[in-house]
Amino acid sequence: MKLNERLTKIALMISKCDAILDVGTDHGYLPIYLVQNNFCKYAIASDINIGPVNKAKLNIKLQGLSDKIECRLGAGLSTIHNGETQCAVIAGMGGNLIRDIIEENIDIFKSFDYAILNPVQNPEVLREYIYKRGFEIIDEDLCIDESKYYEIIKVKYGNKPREIDDIYYEVSKILIDKKHELIKKYIEMKIDKYNKIYNTITDTSINSLDRKKELTDKINKLKELT
Ligand SMILES: C[S@@+](CC[C@H](N)C(=O)[O-])C[C@H]1O[C@@H](n2cnc3c(N)ncnc32)[C@H](O)[C@@H]1O
Repeated sequence: MKLNERLTKIALMISKCDAILDVGTDHGYLPIYLVQNNFCKYAIASDINIGPVNKAKLNIKLQGLSDKIECRLGAGLSTIHNGETQCAVIAGMGGNLIRDIIEENIDIFKSFDYAILNPVQNPEVLREYIYKRGFEIIDEDLCIDESKYYEIIKVKYGNKPREIDDIYYEVSKILIDKKHELIKKYIEMKIDKYNKIYNTITDTSINSLDRKKELTDKINKLKELT
């Protein structure tokens, strides 16, 4: 099984384990790759929708892995019992949904050695939740796949809530500190995006002026990060 750049980067964040849960598996490509490449001995591929579960089952069967990857139908982390897997991947969903999936079954989440999260929208919502809830961020990665940036966050349950500057919810402090090869371009992309939004605001209503001030502050903070 060959994975795209995003799923490959997710796989590279996985430390060897006995069993892994892939939440929202869809096609099942990630668990297939993980078992084939000995990242884990066994995997549970779960999805809230029957269509993806059937698709994953077929792909797993075609790869001859039905005895090593079990497909389960259900929401979030509710498809497993405590201790069934040592880690989980929750990838390819929005930051709000990933946060809700973790909160809904926090006891299961607590039992993991780590989880790999890949918010494809609103990563800032997820990072804010991670910091404020006090989870430990083990590592982060960033990649470009089909011209879009993707963030990958490896976390572990913790209970040390922290307040950090809002800008670090949007741009990872860990990626900045480790001078990730894409972080400069990523920040420049954000500055460009906010400048474009700024330039579309032409009226002088109070709301528009407030929004422009907000955008200017954000652009200045982003510039300080580069
Ligand atoms: C865009 S796909 C991502 C597939 C794969 N994880 C990836 O990163 O390429 C999102 C999948 O998540 C599933 N999904 C959405 N909400 C879910 C939930 N609450 N629990 C489990 N699966 C969910 C959808 O049915 C869909 O198959």
